[in-house]
Amino acid sequence: MSINENGFSERKTILVTGATGNVGRYVVSQLLDMAVPVRAVVRNPGSVDLPDGVEIVRGDLAEPSTLGETLAGVGAVFLVWPGLPTSLAPAVLDELKKYAQRVVYLSSMSTREGRAQQAEPITDFHATIEKLIEGSGLNWTFLRISGLATNTLGWAQQTRSGDVVRWPYAAAARTLIHEKDVAAVAVQALTSDRHNGAKYILTGPQVLTQAEQVQAIGEAIGRPLRYEEISPEVIRPKMLTQLPPAMVDGMLNAWAGFVREPEPISSKVEEITGTPAHTYKEWAIDHARDFS
Ligand SMILES: NC(=O)c1ccc[n+]([C@@H]2O[C@H](COP(=O)([O-])OP(=O)(O)OC[C@H]3O[C@@H](n4cnc5c(N)ncnc54)[C@H](OP(=O)(O)O)[C@@H]3O)[C@@H](O)[C@H]2O)c1
Repeated sequence: MSINENGFSERKTILVTGATGNVGRYVVSQLLDMAVPVRAVVRNPGSVDLPDGVEIVRGDLAEPSTLGETLAGVGAVFLVWPGLPTSLAPAVLDELKKYAQRVVYLSSMSTREGRAQQAEPITDFHATIEKLIEGSGLNWTFLRISGLATNTLGWAQQTRSGDVVRWPYAAAARTLIHEKDVAAVAVQALTSDRHNGAKYILTGPQVLTQAEQVQAIGEAIGRPLRYEEISPEVIRPKMLTQLPPAMVDGMLNAWAGFVREPEPISSKVEEITGTPAHTYKEWAIDHARDFS
C-alpha cells in the first residue's frame, strides 16, 4: 500500500457512481484490471450485471442519506450527475466528504468558465455541479467531455430495421469520444493525485459529420447505410416523448452549432493514458452488434 503526498492511500476503495452506465461500467472493469478495490453504488443491486470482484451496494444520488453507508473506506469517488436537480448536490457532496478525499466528475466540454448562466440547460447543470465541488473542500478532477459516441446508439432502431437513418443536421461535425477512453482517464485521475485541480477537455481523435458517422456504422455492420436529412421540426416531437423541452432544444441548438463550427479535437486522452483515443470507426466496430 502506498501513501501519496496528499495522504491518499492508493489501496483505498474507489466508489463508482453510474457503474451500470456506459462510462461507469468501464471505470469498474479497468479498476478491477489494476487490482484496485472497487465498490459500485447502484439503485437496484438485485438486477445489475457487473463483473465479479466489484462490491455492489445500494445507494441513490437522489436520496443523499443513502450514500453514507456506501462510503466506509472509500478514498476517491467517480461521480456522474444523471440529470438530477442540482439542489441535491450539496447534500451528496457532504456525504462524500465524510470519507473520500477526491472526486472525479464527469462533466461537459461545453461548460464555459466564469459565466453566471451557461448557454444550454445541460451545460448549466454541469457548471453548477463543478462549482459546488470546487467549494466542497474535496480534491477534484473534472473530465469535460465532448459527446459520448454512445449517444449515436439512438440510431440503432433505424439501422436494425432498415438501411436509412433519418435524422437532422447531416453536416454536424463532432469529435465523439469512446466511453472506454473517458473511463481510462477517469481511472488515472482516481488513482493518482497528479490530476487534482485539472479540468481536462476530452474528445475523440477525429472530426466526423453525422453523415460520416452513419457511414462508419454501415462499414462496421457490413451493410451500406444512407443518411436522410430531415428537418429538426420533424424530429423534435419524437425527442419530446423522452426528454424535457429545454433539453431537446438545447440538443438541437448544439447540433446546428456543430454545422457552423465543428467540435474541437483535444489530445488529452493520449497525453494522460499514453494510448491514442479510439476513433469513431473503432467505436462502431465495438458496437456493431447493437446496430445489426
Ligand atoms: N452523453 C453525453 O454525451 C454526455 C456528455 C457530457 C457528460 N455526460 C455525463 O455522463 C454521465 C454518464 O453517462 P453514461 O452514458 O455513462 O450514463 P448512462 O449510460 O446514461 O447511465 C446512467 C447511470 O446513472 C445511474 N443513475 C441514474 N440515476 C441515478 C440515481 N438517482 N442515483 C444513482 N445513480 C443513478 C444509472 O444507474 P442505475 O439506473 O443502474 O441505478 C446509470 O448507471 C451522464 O449522466 C452525463 O451527466 C454525458
